[in-house]
Amino acid sequence: MIIGKPLFSVEQIQTRVTELGNSISSDYEGKEVLAIGILKGAFMFYSDLVRAIGQRLTTDFIIASSYKDTESTGKVNVLYDVTEKIEGRHVLLIEDIVDTGVSLNYHRERILRSNPASLKICAFLDKQERRIAHPQIDYIGFKIPNVFVVGYGLDYENQFRNLPYISIFKKKT
Ligand code: IMP
Ligand code: MG
Repeated sequence: MIIGKPLFSVEQIQTRVTELGNSISSDYEGKEVLAIGILKGAFMFYSDLVRAIGQRLTTDFIIASSYKDTESTGKVNVLYDVTEKIEGRHVLLIEDIVDTGVSLNYHRERILRSNPASLKICAFLDKQERRIAHPQIDYIGFKIPNVFVVGYGLDYENQFRNLPYISIFKKKT
């Protein structure tokens, strides 16, 4: 396998996350945010983003899995679910990357069934080319072409999540 040079550097990520945090803080002024991170992929982005949000905020998580190798299985397994009450809360769903959109759509619909006061979605990366489902994404870190990326929480078979930057991943053939 080959890890290329950074697609987004530590500095680029830091700058963008601060910008996202600022817009989220001003959009939610006077409201309490229930920030739900989708693990494992979003763990690094989530922890940087919540520190960039100046709002009163409650943390919660979903642990889900859908990927095998570099292709999505299209089937989402929820291994750990939100424990906070969702009804009447301002939910911000935080995801690492949106590819086909299938898993995000699944999580979005599940949350909506619990009647939140509002639901917004923040995704660090947006791979628009492969979209099948089209959930509205309110905050996007970066748009990327159809490449498989690792680092900053994103994995290939649970590896490379610890890279502090985003890199394109190629399987050796
Ligand atoms: P979707 O359901 O096809 O949108 O898949 C979304 C999930 O697949 C994300 O939450 C990621 O965990 C994973 N994923 C999609 N693309 C990549 C990638 O390029 N690198 C690592 N994980 C990815
Ligand atoms: Mg993943």
